[in-house]
Amino acid sequence: MKREKGFGMVDGETAEKLIKKAMEAREKAYAPYSRFYVGAALLTEAGQVYTGCNIENAAYGPSNCAERTAFFKAVSEGERSFLAIAIVGAGEESSGQYAAPCGVCRQVMAEFCRPEDFTVIIANTAGEYYVRTLGELLPDGFGAANLQKT
Ligand code: THU
Repeated sequence: MKREKGFGMVDGETAEKLIKKAMEAREKAYAPYSRFYVGAALLTEAGQVYTGCNIENAAYGPSNCAERTAFFKAVSEGERSFLAIAIVGAGEESSGQYAAPCGVCRQVMAEFCRPEDFTVIIANTAGEYYVRTLGELLPDGFGAANLQKT
């Protein structure tokens, strides 16, 4: 089992609640092309949870990941401060696989979250999980601070 000690910005109980919500969101995934179904649950600093699923498209390119769906829902509702996100991704017959966020989603997270402490909970459909900070997933990223230095 890939469970690790340390939960970053959330305790174990909160991590498990977020995983449950991510699993529920995964049920809504629209993924007829890849048949890989992903759900995410994003926790704001104020304690609100925004969920998201992947939404694919026949033209492939316009497809959106679950993580970005959750972020865009939250930001479009005025949220700007986030603590953690749980992600559950697997095909129809999961063999315990994990789906760490893609590079584009890591970059979207970096726009709104501090790399040192934003907590990414990567779970499988059995509820097992491991935890990373955004900084571990996207070291030395490019962000708003780079533009201010020009
Ligand atoms: N996907 C996500 O939603 N999140 C991830 O972390 C990885 C990939 C989606 C995109 C696409 O709909 C499907 O999973 C297969 O790549």
